[in-house]
Amino acid sequence: MDKRTAEDIKKLKLNGEKIVMVTCYDATMAKILSKSDTDMLLVGDSVGMTKLGYKDTLPVTMEDMIHHTKAVANGTDKEKVVLVTDMPYKSYEDNPKLAVENAKKLISSGADMVKLEGGVEIIESIKAIINEGIKIVGHLGLMPQSIEKMGGYKVQCKDEQSQKKLLEDALLLEKEGVSLIVLEGIPEQVAKMVTDKLSIPTIGIGAGKYCDGQVLVSDDMLGMFTDFTPKFVKKYANLAETIQNAAKQYSYEVKNNIFPEEGNTYK
Ligand code: KIV
Repeated sequence: MDKRTAEDIKKLKLNGEKIVMVTCYDATMAKILSKSDTDMLLVGDSVGMTKLGYKDTLPVTMEDMIHHTKAVANGTDKEKVVLVTDMPYKSYEDNPKLAVENAKKLISSGADMVKLEGGVEIIESIKAIINEGIKIVGHLGLMPQSIEKMGGYKVQCKDEQSQKKLLEDALLLEKEGVSLIVLEGIPEQVAKMVTDKLSIPTIGIGAGKYCDGQVLVSDDMLGMFTDFTPKFVKKYANLAETIQNAAKQYSYEVKNNIFPEEGNTYK
């Protein structure tokens, strides 16, 4: 079978089929998620919070993203899943030459597409990357790399002026050839308005049910990340508790000479 592509994902909107994206940071999880009917894996810069212990995504570097992209690519079934990698903070914004260099590094590490946060402000970088034949996922609304400007993780586009800018940015990204757009942290009806006006798919996170697809951070969705849980997250498992219970049982068995048993021992 052929590799699944950005074009295949775009067709899902035309067919009225929802798109499923989830974040992934290592090869083991990529193998598991490749067998889960997920359409796209995202090596998100949320890796900074979920795996590297930072309070936000700003300290994440190109080296971090390359490292995690290689790991995820090693475990991803590319016939089923399209792999997207986030371009980290300060790797692309107002420097198209640097943006192209870094996008190429992520693609040669195994990503099929790269994701960038922003609209008109970063359009020269977007154009330069697309000009190299690299497929892009846009990201509008709440943009975690602009958290300082946005005054924290707050729902965006509540007033008419910011809703107008959101739509203008989305239409501009579409016009320049961006393949899909992530809409984060905006009211449901605003996401619907943008989704209805675009022919390319929108993927929502905290943007309601009218987007063409949904993305969640795997550590939130699986109940691994317990520092805080935003309202838009639904937990489909409680792995933090499962892991703690398993590790407690292991500790108990080691301390009480129960493990290793006969079956775990070489003779
Ligand atoms: O980094 C990330 O996980 C993301 C998602 C929130 C879409 O960008």
